Amino acid sequence: MDYRNPKLLLDANQLPTGKVKWRSPSNIALVKYWGKHGRQLPRNASLSLTLSAAHTETELHYRPKKEHNDRVPVNLFLDGTPQPAFAERVQGFFEGITTIYPFLRQLDLSVYTSNSFPHSAGIASSASAMSALALCLCSLERKFFLALSDDQAFFRKASYLARLGSGSASRSLYPVAALWGYHTEVKGSSDEVAIPFADQLHPVFQSFRDTIVLVSKATKQVSSSAGHQLMEQNVFADVRYQQANQHLSRLLLASREGDLEIFGSIIESEALTLHALMMTSNPSYILMEPATLEMIQRVRAFRTEQQLPLYFTLDAGPNLHLLYPSEHMEAIGAFIQESLAPLGTGQIIEDSVGQGPVEID
Ligand code: DP6
Repeated sequence: MDYRNPKLLLDANQLPTGKVKWRSPSNIALVKYWGKHGRQLPRNASLSLTLSAAHTETELHYRPKKEHNDRVPVNLFLDGTPQPAFAERVQGFFEGITTIYPFLRQLDLSVYTSNSFPHSAGIASSASAMSALALCLCSLERKFFLALSDDQAFFRKASYLARLGSGSASRSLYPVAALWGYHTEVKGSSDEVAIPFADQLHPVFQSFRDTIVLVSKATKQVSSSAGHQLMEQNVFADVRYQQANQHLSRLLLASREGDLEIFGSIIESEALTLHALMMTSNPSYILMEPATLEMIQRVRAFRTEQQLPLYFTLDAGPNLHLLYPSEHMEAIGAFIQESLAPLGTGQIIEDSVGQGPVEID
């Protein structure tokens, strides 16, 4: 896949002014992406459910740039407040893709972004934020060069660009579920882009819920990017990548057949492995909190006692994601409220499998 294109330059005498806007969701990985190499290429394939309530809305404003240089100046506002650190990351992302989109060097860009979830909730926002930006960029290409008229090509390129911004963002482009990374058993899978996965899932997963129980609002001590880096020296790295491939093979089958028990055992193992890898990194670190462990024990006890399909997963943080079919919402919802929420900050976020990004006029 080579998206480099020196022809995507604007007429210097008629540089445009305008804006584009997208809403893009977060996603929750079932098989985790943990470890990367080269230019944002994953060490193993990952699979995620696309979320709905947790999303980012991003408006990208453009106007002619006054100076002639190689920079891509970016102003960035989160809920109206300037965010210099995030602006710098986005500027680095844009400057890194000027061989794909050389027109970016001709424009002054301002990004107005907001998240549906509270800033301080400790919820990862890079997947929704970077995918929303990538979509805005593809909209610019569509607008300026009348290209990417085919939706499949549009979202594929957006996934490629989103990956360069943040690996997990490549998976936020499609309804219901996405798979990123080459896997021998998945036709069309690639390390460079995520592919849609909805049609491979049994209907039971299409309306799955993800209730997030917040354990801590503190920002992470170790960023995901630093965590990926530590995998390069982790003594368990090779077996982990093998395990991820095997997990994915088994999950593909369980997802097609709607086998909740196998699905649950794999996603819980993935979550615990992710955190075990952090604990066995050098330097080692721990992102789970005592409350996370207590909740995990309670989820497992509840499952055995009630015989209900409630499973957990974790991101790179202490908050517990609870996955279950929507038909059990009442019984499971009550258990989460009464037995889990009080162990954390008391705050929960109700999310469910979603339909993917939307362009906003
Ligand atoms: C634990 O996508 O945030 O959420 O590519 O460095 O931006 P970068 O990392 P990022 O890593 C996410 C890791 C994870 C698992 C996952 O989403 O697959």
